Amino acid sequence: MNPYRLARRAVGRALRALPWTRRMLVASCDYRIITEAQARAHRGGGWHFASTVRRQEQAYDLLLAEMHAGHPRNDLTVAAQSVDALALAAPTLLEIGCGSGYYVEVFEALCRSKVCYTGLDYSPAMIERAKGRYPQAHFVTGDATKLDFPDKAFDIVFNGVSLMHILDFERAITEAARVAAHGVIFHSVPLLERRPTAYLTKYAYGAPVVEIIFNRAHLLDMFAKAGLVVQQSWFSEDYDVAAVTGETSRAETFLCRPADKR
Ligand SMILES: C[S@@+](CC[C@H](N)C(=O)[O-])C[C@H]1O[C@@H](n2cnc3c(N)ncnc32)[C@H](O)[C@@H]1O
Repeated sequence: MNPYRLARRAVGRALRALPWTRRMLVASCDYRIITEAQARAHRGGGWHFASTVRRQEQAYDLLLAEMHAGHPRNDLTVAAQSVDALALAAPTLLEIGCGSGYYVEVFEALCRSKVCYTGLDYSPAMIERAKGRYPQAHFVTGDATKLDFPDKAFDIVFNGVSLMHILDFERAITEAARVAAHGVIFHSVPLLERRPTAYLTKYAYGAPVVEIIFNRAHLLDMFAKAGLVVQQSWFSEDYDVAAVTGETSRAETFLCRPADKR
């Protein structure tokens, strides 16, 4: 390897060894297992920071450019496949935890049918950026655990990589099931097979957040209690934090149907 590349690698390694620079450079780092009580007491709040919105946007711009060049990352392909699997013409879709709304672009590019999209996020900073970026879509600020919509208000509820950040996840699952007429998609949920559901802290785009890695059987049990039946599931992304949990994990996407629609 040429000396310039070797020097760059060495500098990169040195910067990643220091907490402050590591958090500036790496999208997700510094995972630590905590108890549920510690998770509830955690100030977190990272999703509300303007800097998180900015850094997430930089990361997504690269991913979206690859998708438009014909090389979508697997989780983006799976998101579109899960929507298409319901075979609905021009479905209304509510994305829970939409961030700055990147899935508007993913569904437009990769879904077979047009999707009539509404995005919801509890971070006003995310919603403000989403409205600026995707004026063709509809966005609202709101909490996944108290959805301000009537029963069966949307054909599809799509939880966009956010269940893992919602401490009251059981309520979020019940609320998603309530407002969905035809299907609920839980996209890219990190899973453990053997360990019980685990609570962690990490830095996401340089900001502190809480994260949950679900025991798969526990998650399926919560779906069943909410009246949901898994119709199909897909491997979404590697999500390996075995160095912290002691067990290899991965992210999976679930397409669930209300029991009365099977
Ligand atoms: C990992 S980001 C996912 C953003 C986007 N869907 C994506 O995949 O890029 C998680 C999002 O969930 C949102 N979130 C966390 N807890 C929430 C809650 N209780 N209600 C609504 N949104 C929430 C955060 O603000 C954040 O934008």
